[in-house]
Amino acid sequence: MRTPVLNQTTIVLLALVVVISILLGVLRNTVDMDPVDFERDAQLGAELFEDQGCFRCHFTDSTETRIGPGLKGLFDMEALPVSDKPVTEENVKNQILDPVGDMPSYEDRMSEEELDQIIFFLKTL
Ligand code: HEC
Repeated sequence: MRTPVLNQTTIVLLALVVVISILLGVLRNTVDMDPVDFERDAQLGAELFEDQGCFRCHFTDSTETRIGPGLKGLFDMEALPVSDKPVTEENVKNQILDPVGDMPSYEDRMSEEELDQIIFFLKTL
C-alpha cells in the first residue's frame, strides 16, 4: 500500500516541479525581453537622431538652446520647453510630425516605428 502512494506523491511533486520550472522560464523570458528590446529601440532611436539631423539643432547632454531647446531630461521635465504642453509621447510625436515654431516637419520622413524609436531614445536622455 505504502509504495504506490509514495510513487503517486513523487509523480505529483515531479509534475509540479516541471510545471513551475516552465512557468519560471516563461516569466524570466518575458521579464528579460523587455529591457533588451527597449535598449535596442533606444539605440536605433539614437542613430535616427543622428541620421535625421535632430542633433544639429538639439543638444542631448544639456538643456541649453542650440537652435532648438536642449533635450536632456526631456521626459522628466514638467512641460515641453517651448510649447509648454505636457511631456507625453503623443505631444513629442506631434512636435516631430507637425512642429511648433521653426522646426522642420518630419511627416513622411519617419515611419511610426521610427517615431517610437526616437521616443525611446529621448526617454534615455
Ligand atoms: C533645423 C533645426 C531643427 C531640427 C533638425 C530639429 N528640431 Fe526640434 N526644434 C527646433 C526648434 C527651433 C524648436 C523650438 C521651436 C521654436 O522655438 O520655434 C524645436 C523644438 C523641439 C522640441 C520641443 C517642442 C516643445 O513643444 O517644446 C522637441 C521635443 C524637438 N524639437 C525634438 C526634435 C527631434 C526629435 C528632432 C529630429 C527628429 C528635431 N527636433 C529636429 C529645431 C529643430
